[in-house]
Amino acid sequence: MLRKIDSFEQYKTEYKTSVENPEKFWEEKAEQFEWHRKWANVVSCNFNEAETRWFENGKLNITENALDRHLTTQANKPAIIWEPNNPSDQHKTFTYKEVHSEVCKIANGLRNLGVKKGDRVCLYMPMVPELAFATLACARIGAIHSVVFAGFSAKALADRINDCSCKIILTADGAFRGSKTIELKKIVDTALNHCEVVERTVVLNRCGIPVQLKEGRDLWWEQIFDNQSAEFTAESMDSEDPLFILYTSGSTGKPKGVQHSSGGYMVYAEYSFRNVFQYEEDDIYWCTADIGWITGHSYIIYGPLLAGATTVMFEGVPTFPNAGRFWEICEKHKINLFYTAPTAIRALQAYSTDFVNRHNLSSLKVLGSVGEPINEEAWHWYHKNIGKEKCPIVDTWWQTETGGILISPLAGITPLKPGYASLPLPGIQPVIVDSLGNELTENEVEGNLCIKRPWPSMLRSTWGDHERCKSTYFKTYPGMYFTGDGCNRDINGYYRITGRVDDVINVSGHRFGTAEIENAINEHPDVIESAVIGFPHDIKGQGIYAFVITQPGETGSNDLFSKEIIEKVVEFIGPIAKPDKIQFVSGLPKTRSGKIMRRILRKLAKGNHHDLGDTSTLLDPNVIDSIKLGILIEA
Ligand code: PRX
Repeated sequence: MLRKIDSFEQYKTEYKTSVENPEKFWEEKAEQFEWHRKWANVVSCNFNEAETRWFENGKLNITENALDRHLTTQANKPAIIWEPNNPSDQHKTFTYKEVHSEVCKIANGLRNLGVKKGDRVCLYMPMVPELAFATLACARIGAIHSVVFAGFSAKALADRINDCSCKIILTADGAFRGSKTIELKKIVDTALNHCEVVERTVVLNRCGIPVQLKEGRDLWWEQIFDNQSAEFTAESMDSEDPLFILYTSGSTGKPKGVQHSSGGYMVYAEYSFRNVFQYEEDDIYWCTADIGWITGHSYIIYGPLLAGATTVMFEGVPTFPNAGRFWEICEKHKINLFYTAPTAIRALQAYSTDFVNRHNLSSLKVLGSVGEPINEEAWHWYHKNIGKEKCPIVDTWWQTETGGILISPLAGITPLKPGYASLPLPGIQPVIVDSLGNELTENEVEGNLCIKRPWPSMLRSTWGDHERCKSTYFKTYPGMYFTGDGCNRDINGYYRITGRVDDVINVSGHRFGTAEIENAINEHPDVIESAVIGFPHDIKGQGIYAFVITQPGETGSNDLFSKEIIEKVVEFIGPIAKPDKIQFVSGLPKTRSGKIMRRILRKLAKGNHHDLGDTSTLLDPNVIDSIKLGILIEA
């Protein structure tokens, strides 16, 4: 196993090497893994075509590196500890040997169902160990997993299934989430009315909810997987063969299937995990994310298991049965490395610190943050109350597209500055550009964040539409990957990410395209047009604010109307994208070319009615006064 960076000096040396000789740098990292065949070439890249290849012609299977590789030395070490939603239910621990067996059984079951290398498999599941096993089973068989967060609606699920033609879907009867039970199989049934591609559905019994099994299509999980052999020879994958697709929102209405590779993703997921968290053997690590998001893929499953760590999976929510649940779990499992999102911290900050102080948190060594900028107040609360001022906080900046953490302190090594994701990991070359695309090379500058050189875990394409990948990420600033984020760099070269500069909003760390929400709202027959923007929200980071123009003569109550609009969003996307505020207006601020001036709407949403900036390009300046008079409904 590779050593990790253990001093700031060493970080600087390693960074320098990674810039001066990236091929040698990454080759050394890749050599630590087991490959069926060594690569012929470390990296080739053409950003103009959005083409990048890492460890070309290398052959491997990521699950052999995440599981089999550890069996000789630590077969009986816990690999996954699963903590259920309800604290009175028993937690479960699975050793590396046991995870290996479970993964092989599912791989055999999938093969019997006809799943082959390259097929897409959709997973729409609760946060149960079977989700982790099934994800790895897909990788073992060479099938491409597409995990869809189980909070998305039937419509959103159907779109994701159809986009990459999944022929099989793995799901459960339901999911427990806090005090709620979500009937997943019912949602799947509705989705499948619109998905002709799906041949099979395999259903796990998690909640004991009666479900309808459709003859010839639906099967019970245990029937298919339980009696299989616990051995499965892993498929030999090309380094560039897709490992997974994960859908994420962009500035258009249609989410895109971000496609990741096998070899490069593996190398970077492990390298970043080990170094950022400064993982040491026997550390117990817990990332509170859901496997339905990239954080769960890279830092619940792949990164920690590749490093041979013990990773904790949690089925529930931070506030159930009370606001002490996270800290109770930290105490119970003696968590050393803890990784969560600012929105969770802010939600818990609202409760008494008694919920924290009644637990012994002395095992904690490192705290992590991901998903959105962490405000200084939350940073200090986390540092003081959870870390007792002795745990470094790693504010990790990255994206679904980057596959792994790109800018972050290394715990205990990089000097911290609250609010700053700090410095790039070795191998990562961030640049700040102005609106014209000029690179700002000095410190103390502000602009848009791009990345100059390829890194192993970067996205390879957007499923089924490579042009979209090119135009979204590589056209804006030729020769660079454009992140969509704004940022500044301080005098010491530290990066502070300020948020999205495109039409993407980040709600509780979840990304939504404004167009995606507008499309859903516009489905209401009495809506003529809508414009959605993000506004500052105490807990969610950004809330969703919708300005809606309705049919003239629409007379129903605004409360009822706003409820119906919210229902449309829940139907088309899911409850996670519900607008917080809806304002009924008679017009929207548009330029002469018909473009909505969101800048003005953002100011109006913040209650800033006077300093609206330049309004001279508005087609109808009077529209501002009419918007101010619009009735506002807060959900
Ligand atoms: O705006 C940035 C924000 O989250 C976006 C990526 O969202 P997603 O692909 O869903 O991945 C989230 C988990 C990696 C980024 O473009 N973001 C993520 N981490 C941070 C952040 N913003 C500021 N600071 C961070 N640490």
